[in-house]
Amino acid sequence: MRRPFVPIDAALLRAVSPGWAGALRAVDDGPLDFAAAARQHADYARALVQAGVAVTVLPADPRQPDCCFIEDTAVVVGRHALATRPGAATRRGEVSPVVDALVSVGCIVHRMGPPATLEGGDVLRVGDVLYVGLSQRTNRAGVEALAAVAALEGLVVKPVELGDAMHLKGGVTLADADTAVVDADVVDPAQVAGWGLSVIEAAEPVGANVLALGRGRVLVPAEAPATAERLRRRGLAVRTVEGAALHRADGRLTCLSLRLPRPGGWCA
Ligand code: GLY
Repeated sequence: MRRPFVPIDAALLRAVSPGWAGALRAVDDGPLDFAAAARQHADYARALVQAGVAVTVLPADPRQPDCCFIEDTAVVVGRHALATRPGAATRRGEVSPVVDALVSVGCIVHRMGPPATLEGGDVLRVGDVLYVGLSQRTNRAGVEALAAVAALEGLVVKPVELGDAMHLKGGVTLADADTAVVDADVVDPAQVAGWGLSVIEAAEPVGANVLALGRGRVLVPAEAPATAERLRRRGLAVRTVEGAALHRADGRLTCLSLRLPRPGGWCA
């Protein structure tokens, strides 16, 4: 039975690491700005709180420059969660504290081992289906590990070939339960339409990563004004947050939180 789409009501975040200067990135465009990243992270947390989300911020780890991108460390499906084995080997030390936090909120946490790799940025839930990018960071064994956990909640996993893209959700995210925003350079909009979604093409690449808050509200990067306008024209209530300092380390809005779906429902 298809579960209802519900507003996000709880999320784990993780503070920006004092080691931020060493965060992974595809393009080195000069030194990363810790103060700006921390400020934008705080703005993001505030936006979630103002949207009614119960936010818990885990402490940063100075040895883990990418730890604020907490979404990559686990996939939560109902009462069960899969602790990931990130494809980026330098990020594997981020996972344990997130497991502890998930256990403390009552999740049954499952592990995956080599050769499997998977990052949460590759997992897009649409109803009872998890679309999983086969990407730079997630391999077929990782998809199989997730499929085993998803089956415990009656969910189905469908792999999506991405070629050289970093993460599926760099190219497609939900604006609401039935509407996706897509970067056509990463994911074919026709393929996404085949998932039963209404498709809006992002006008800016970073615009393809938005966070559906529920009840018609969507969080959009301030750096994607034309995408925001397209979403408003669809009748969505858009809230923007600045993220340029985080984008420079290939972080996007969804990467910054691990949403905990309400029992019996699903959320972005
Ligand atoms: N800097 C985020 C990542 O590359 O995983």
